[in-house]
Amino acid sequence: MTFSIFTLFPGLFEGFVRSSILARAIERGLVSVRLIDIRDFATDRHHVCDDAAYGGGPGMVMKPEPLAAALEASGAKAGKRVVYLTPAGRRFSQRMAGELAKEEEILLLCGRYEGIDQRVIDAFVSDEVSIGDYVLSGGEVAAMVVVDAVARLVPGVIAEDSLEEESFSRGLLEYPHYTRPEDFRGMRVPEVLLSGHHEKIRKWRLLKSLEKTMKHRPELLNQDGLPAEARELLREKRNPRLGRGATNPRLERGEREEGDGNERDQGT
Ligand code: ADE
Repeated sequence: MTFSIFTLFPGLFEGFVRSSILARAIERGLVSVRLIDIRDFATDRHHVCDDAAYGGGPGMVMKPEPLAAALEASGAKAGKRVVYLTPAGRRFSQRMAGELAKEEEILLLCGRYEGIDQRVIDAFVSDEVSIGDYVLSGGEVAAMVVVDAVARLVPGVIAEDSLEEESFSRGLLEYPHYTRPEDFRGMRVPEVLLSGHHEKIRKWRLLKSLEKTMKHRPELLNQDGLPAEARELLREKRNPRLGRGATNPRLERGEREEGDGNERDQGT
C-alpha cells in the first residue's frame, strides 16, 4: 500500500516514517510513503503557494495551480482515492481506516493557512476527512494519524489477533492490561488474570470493556454490531434485576459461571 503525501512541509514526516511499526512495514515492502513537496510544482520565481481569499477576510488560501500540478503528476485523476485533511471533513474512524486499508494507494492532501482553493477539492478530492473537532495548524499531523491508523490494518503489518482485541474492533473500548510485577505499590493484578482460566479471563475482559465504554463513550453502545454476548451483559448492567448481576463481586473477579444456579437476585 502506498501513501502519497502532498505537503508544503515534507520535513515534518521524517521522524514519523522512521518510527518503529511504520519503518518495519516499509522495510518489509508492505507499505511505502512518498512525500511530494507542493512547492516544487509552483512555477513562479519565488515558488509562491498561497494567496489572499476572494471576498476578503483574514488568512491566506493555498493556490490551485501548484496543487493541481502536483496531483496530476501523481496520476490523481485515475480513479485514485484522494483524501483532503480538513477540520470541515467527515470524522475519521476505525471503520474509515479499514476501508482505506483496502486501497492500493491513497493520496493525502495536507492543507495549510485557511485551506485550499475549493476548485481543487471539486476536481480531485474523493474524501474530505477530519480527525476530530479541533483545528490544527495544518493537515500534516492529521495525515500522520490517518497513515498510522491505516498502515497497521494492512495485512501483515501487525499480528491479526492484536487487531481483533483492540478498541473499536468489536464496537467497544479495550479492557485494561497488566504486566509484571503482580503487586505494584500495593496494587495487585486482578486475580482472574492469574488464574489461567481462559474462558473466565475472556468474560472478565468483555465486562471491563463494557464498563470502560459505558464510562467513557456511552454513545458507542447504541450502535449495531455489538456482539450478542456484550449486548446481553449490557442489558444486565443497565437493569441488574433482570439478570445475572453485573455488580456481583464474583463476576468482578471473573468467577461468573453460566448456569451456576446463582443467576438471579445477585445484581443489586
Ligand atoms: N487540518 C486542520 N485541522 C484538522 C483536523 N481537525 N482534521 C484534519 N485536518 C485538519
